[in-house]
Amino acid sequence: MCGIIGYVGDKDAVPVIIDGLKKLEYRGYDSAGIAVYGKNGFDIVKQKGRLVVLEERLSSLMRENKPLSGHLGIGHTRWATHGEPSDINSHPHTGSKNRIAVVHNGIIENYKQIKERLENRGVTFVSQTDSEVIAQLAEHYYSGDIIDTVIKVSNALEGSYALGVMCIDEPDLLVAIKKDNPLIIGKSNHGNFIASDVPAVLKHTNQVYYLNDREVAVLHEKDIQFFNTDREPLQKKAETITWSMDSAEKDGYPHFMLKEIMEQPKVLRDTIQSAVTDGENRKVLDNIDIIRFDKIMITACGSAYNAGVVAKYVFEKLCRISVEVELASEFRYKDAVINEKTLVILVSQSGETADTIAAMREAKSKSAPTLAIVNVVGSAIAKEADYCIFTAAGPEIAVATTKAFSAQLILLYILAIRFARRLGKIQPEEEQKQIEEIKSLPDKVSEILDRIGSIQMYASTCIGYKSIFFIGRNIDYAIALEGSLKLKEISYIHSEAYAGGELKHGTISLVEENTLVVALSNYYYLYNKIMSNAEQVISRGAKVLLIGNCPKVDQESGKFYHIVLPQVSEIFSPSLSVIALQLFSYYVAANKGLDIDKPRNLAKSVTVE
Ligand code: AGP
Ligand code: GLU
Repeated sequence: MCGIIGYVGDKDAVPVIIDGLKKLEYRGYDSAGIAVYGKNGFDIVKQKGRLVVLEERLSSLMRENKPLSGHLGIGHTRWATHGEPSDINSHPHTGSKNRIAVVHNGIIENYKQIKERLENRGVTFVSQTDSEVIAQLAEHYYSGDIIDTVIKVSNALEGSYALGVMCIDEPDLLVAIKKDNPLIIGKSNHGNFIASDVPAVLKHTNQVYYLNDREVAVLHEKDIQFFNTDREPLQKKAETITWSMDSAEKDGYPHFMLKEIMEQPKVLRDTIQSAVTDGENRKVLDNIDIIRFDKIMITACGSAYNAGVVAKYVFEKLCRISVEVELASEFRYKDAVINEKTLVILVSQSGETADTIAAMREAKSKSAPTLAIVNVVGSAIAKEADYCIFTAAGPEIAVATTKAFSAQLILLYILAIRFARRLGKIQPEEEQKQIEEIKSLPDKVSEILDRIGSIQMYASTCIGYKSIFFIGRNIDYAIALEGSLKLKEISYIHSEAYAGGELKHGTISLVEENTLVVALSNYYYLYNKIMSNAEQVISRGAKVLLIGNCPKVDQESGKFYHIVLPQVSEIFSPSLSVIALQLFSYYVAANKGLDIDKPRNLAKSVTVE
């Protein structure tokens, strides 16, 4: 939900940290701050606003000949959960004695009790955040050993945290610890890093350690040590990051989102390759004994949930077993009816979504085996699930997911086909035919991407709508959910997705002259039904954007605009519909001049409740 970074090394920490924060801004960006260990102790600059506001402040300090400088520092880009975005609520936070500085990603659930206890001991708090209690408690406990202090503080905290800590008595030491939020440790030839995510350090190193919950990292310029909370040394192995810095750059595109939309043919090929040949994913899929399950439960959030809704149609059609799809935030608290015969599938791009992590742990507490579909190696869900397969999407920087979502669909299709074969519902030749059709999807996606001009042109006429409805039948309804979410999150236009047959049970009352309805209309047995739904809204004054491989409709009346898609089997059609839906939303938002990669109020990974 926010990004933290720390550095100790032989370079000036300020530019290193600011550059790292730029790579973490997608995680939250309502305020930003930095603390360096300067000549006379901590120098801290932090304020409300995007990172660029902090940069401007630092430049003006430079012009006033009061530059921030030091070889040890911590930085933070915030997505507020407790305390509005403001200068005083920005991170880093220090205790009242200004002896310990902290950056925090997460939520401290018992912060009120800690705050009250410390206030009763005369401590004065200055912010409304939960995070300040960490710094204040650390100063309260501190008696000369900052590592012991960090361990003691972590023992007192409830909730989630990834922490970077500096101490006034340790001018070249950085301490870090995490629980339920991501934190990587980077080792470079000029110093060492802590960061919420790999892109923040990739310019300096491809050697990273993934910190596990309640492991302590102690960083000096030349060495890194790991301990458990009993202060026993831990040996950890550095992992080599295989993807390049370019992946985390825009490569000339105006937005990461457009770059990531255009990367989808390659991402689909790589993901198919990983699951169909003898890649790691294939081995995992071969190890899952599907015949011992009588139910599949898919649980996720946001777009990942929408991928699960698509998968429900595919699994039930191919495997003929019951599939339930639940929002992770609901699943985690509903005492779900699952057991050792339920396969729980968790879908998550980041692998760090708090609700999905909790859903995974809930499933495990009921002995249900867990299979994760994740994009980020080393993430909490990837490490804790019983089985894990990885989308080969590379780093996805835009907050609105595109390529990772499409890769999730591919793995879910392949999973369903493998399971259907294992259950004897399809024969080897049918399995091969399905796999061959999946292999044809990247080229069909390219066909759509080659025609983005028509989508761009139509989208430019849609920026004035206050509300846009998406309708579809059967699997087209599932992908309509994703189309609606994509539009909402980047264009700020209200939108709802409806099963085509449900519109007339209430919502059609909202349809009036010039309402825009996006109808997913792939040419399958319900084609006539969705087309009659389209006529129903047109007869009430609406305009309809048809997206699908249905026969070309007459557009002369001006009531229809049709984005024709390549032919493909119904169960795989969401992979093509979603490309048009992504492009439509992207160009509506682009025409509105919005900050597409970092939409207001959002963050890439929702690592808090
Ligand atoms: C998708 O565009 C959104 N950014 C959001 O709904 C996202 O899908 C959701 O927060 C789940 O994230 P995850 O896949 O990282 O778990
Ligand atoms: N809960 C902390 C705050 O509100 C950190 C939020 C975050 O992780 O984005 O400042």
